[in-house]
Amino acid sequence: MFKPQMLRQVARAAQLQAPRAAFRSRQPAASIRSFSSAPCRFDKEYQGEDHDAATTAGTPGESGDHEGQFARTDKTVIVEYPEEKDLPPSQPIQGRGGFHFKRTLASFSLEGRVGVVTGGARGLGLVMAQALVISGADVAIVDMNKEEAQRSADGLIEIYKAENPGSEQIPNVTAHFCDVSSPTSVNQSLAEIIKVHGKVDNLVTSAGFTENYDAITYPHDRLQKLWGVNVDGTYLYAIAVAKHLMEREAPGSVVMIGSMSGSIVNVPQPQAPYNAAKAAVRHLAASLAVEWAHAGIRVNCISPGYMLTALTKKILDDNPELQKKWTSLIPVGKMGRPEDLMGAVTFLSSDASLYVTGADLRVDGAYTCT
Ligand SMILES: NC(=O)c1ccc[n+]([C@@H]2O[C@H](COP(=O)([O-])OP(=O)(O)OC[C@H]3O[C@@H](n4cnc5c(N)ncnc54)[C@H](O)[C@@H]3O)[C@@H](O)[C@H]2O)c1
Repeated sequence: MFKPQMLRQVARAAQLQAPRAAFRSRQPAASIRSFSSAPCRFDKEYQGEDHDAATTAGTPGESGDHEGQFARTDKTVIVEYPEEKDLPPSQPIQGRGGFHFKRTLASFSLEGRVGVVTGGARGLGLVMAQALVISGADVAIVDMNKEEAQRSADGLIEIYKAENPGSEQIPNVTAHFCDVSSPTSVNQSLAEIIKVHGKVDNLVTSAGFTENYDAITYPHDRLQKLWGVNVDGTYLYAIAVAKHLMEREAPGSVVMIGSMSGSIVNVPQPQAPYNAAKAAVRHLAASLAVEWAHAGIRVNCISPGYMLTALTKKILDDNPELQKKWTSLIPVGKMGRPEDLMGAVTFLSSDASLYVTGADLRVDGAYTCT
């Protein structure tokens, strides 16, 4: 029996070879050599035997309807980014923080640091903001949705107090409006944060979104918005924070949230512009890591796989068949939870990763390995 992964690989190979098959079929048989030293026989008697129909010798669909089944986008799958009002807010995670007496490396601590998390009002950004708080940092949550950012900041402090009864050091968690795709808005929000917190040491860029449309029908204004938030937004906040760190002559860490979509092409939902945006984020991290290495500013990328956030839940509610398709393609067999990023972001933000820069840390249940 075929396993989906095997099927994907076979189908991928068939797909990759298809144009060459068409080319080959026009060549004289004598010019073709098999892998063995024996001459290849192309007379009718031998054609169609064994697995030829599943190779480039076959015509499309000859070996069955399954050809490419798990390795192609489907343009009928359209998932629009939901309206703000349709998205339930995220809640801070409970039971992950608090004092504990397990031994761990002190270099993972972020005590004394100030971190900024863009897109931190909900979803992955909120959980990563919470990871920084639990690890000892003060945090500024930056988001288009200021009200939700404020509720989340308050929620983080409440959970912190509940999990650390009697603690004298309550973290300072603040909320700030920013449209990360606007340079003016970025600079204004950073100035506000520095005024309140005095400095910034860490940045996590999680503001971003996806839309699933086939490339040909994707409206241009939405393409500009998608790249504006995912790419420009990441770039603009990173350079603003790097400038501040250089002025202070202080080291720092920037963690950019990319996606496994920056390295692979998701199926079946088409999302070429998003994939390209996340590839840009991944390479931006590598490029800025090199450019700012002299200043002690590390830049890394985290590339999550399918994570079950409020947004992903909404997409799966609208398209129930997607969940089975997605999990069938993940070697671990499960989607990740937002809190599965807590360790990764703490590691890359802290001195535990002092010699790690320009890296892409994939947190995807091995999706990108197949
Ligand atoms: N959820 C996943 O499965 C997944 C997988 C891989 C990568 N990612 C990436 O992780 C990041 C966070 O995704 P999420 O699932 O938490 O999404 P989300 O929608 O839950 O959260 C994104 C946040 O960004 C904010 N935001 C949107 N546009 C903004 C702008 N112009 N300026 C400032 N803030 C803005 C939103 O208000 C929201 O609070 C995104 O970059 C996304 O592409 C998500």
